[in-house]
Amino acid sequence: MLDTDLNARLVLEARKAREQAYAPYSGEFKVGAAVMAEGGEIFSGCNVENASFGATMCAERVAVFKAIAAGHRRIQAVAVIADTTDPIPPCGMCRQVIAEFGSDAEVIMANVTGDSRTSNMRDLLPSVFHFRRRGQ
Ligand code: THU
Repeated sequence: MLDTDLNARLVLEARKAREQAYAPYSGEFKVGAAVMAEGGEIFSGCNVENASFGATMCAERVAVFKAIAAGHRRIQAVAVIADTTDPIPPCGMCRQVIAEFGSDAEVIMANVTGDSRTSNMRDLLPSVFHFRRRGQ
């Protein structure tokens, strides 16, 4: 578990990133995310929608891809925040992407009113897909 300060910092970075969300097609459903890589560096992201709806990218994957592009390969924790009644859980596709680099990552789900709950990738994505052929 992250200590209380790190947890709060990660949620704060996610909250700040959310302000940059580009979400005209969902009626401004703005999402922010922040990833803590091994070593403690934080990368944040927002959702980026597109006129071709399927080209939309979630906030979590933007944050993960920024960490990977900066050279990191292990993710310790992820925070995600939106203006939802309950703390927002990452979508299924984002779970698969987070698990690639953080099979045991902590996931902090939050909303803008200050509610949050914490889980772990092992619980959020049991039986995760790995690319392994028979015999590997
Ligand atoms: N969205 C995220 O950014 N993360 C999620 O985990 C769920 C969905 C975004 C994508 C789209 O811009 C909007 O929320 C509605 O689906």
